[in-house]
Amino acid sequence: MLSETRPAGGDTLTFLGAIMRNPQQLGAIAPSSKAIARLAASIVPDSPGAVVVELGAGGGVISDAIRDRMPPGGRQLALEINEGMVRHLRRTRPWLEVITGDAGDLGKILREAGLSHADAIVSSLPWTLFDDAQQKLILEEIASSLAPGGRFSTVTTLTVMPFQRFRNFRGLMHSTFATVGTLGPVWRNVPPALIYTGVRSPDLLAEDPSGATE
Ligand SMILES: C[S@@+](CC[C@H](N)C(=O)[O-])C[C@H]1O[C@@H](n2cnc3c(N)ncnc32)[C@H](O)[C@@H]1O
Repeated sequence: MLSETRPAGGDTLTFLGAIMRNPQQLGAIAPSSKAIARLAASIVPDSPGAVVVELGAGGGVISDAIRDRMPPGGRQLALEINEGMVRHLRRTRPWLEVITGDAGDLGKILREAGLSHADAIVSSLPWTLFDDAQQKLILEEIASSLAPGGRFSTVTTLTVMPFQRFRNFRGLMHSTFATVGTLGPVWRNVPPALIYTGVRSPDLLAEDPSGATE
């Protein structure tokens, strides 16, 4: 499905304004590029009626990439903690089910939305702004919210890789998911970035559609 035309500059300006007001929450210097957004959304399943949840939707570039892959009858939700970005998403993307909230409350938020699970969860959360306990809590919420065999992807910029908090996050990915992989990097993203993917057990024999493993 093709996204409706909208001024991309509006997304970027709104996002940059939010970064200046609250850099500790946004955790980025620029919105994701369309190329990294497409890669993050490549885990969206083609099964009719699939539920796909996005964490940290921001200006909406990844929401658009997810929408382009949504199967018939699917349900696409976007969770975002920043109220300014929520208002922006609701104004520019009336087709998107936007929920104000914290990814640490994901299970409760899904239940309130009448859902028992998600088939895919796509994130661009700023993992290195979270301490170890927050990282663990959010990853546990993600894993327990995924259907067996469900897939998770998250954008990671290469600039955070030297940091201990990133190494902690990568370790948690391996202890949380049956299979962990990477896609990319995308060098023309600002800054360059790659995607970490995870598959929820007990789907141990499932093949990652990307064919990527770490
Ligand atoms: C790095 S930005 C990514 C924005 C956009 N998806 C993109 O790729 O350009 C991270 C987003 O996650 C949101 N965020 C940060 N912590 C969050 C949390 N605990 N729960 C939900 N959203 C959160 C921020 O407000 C911000 O919009």
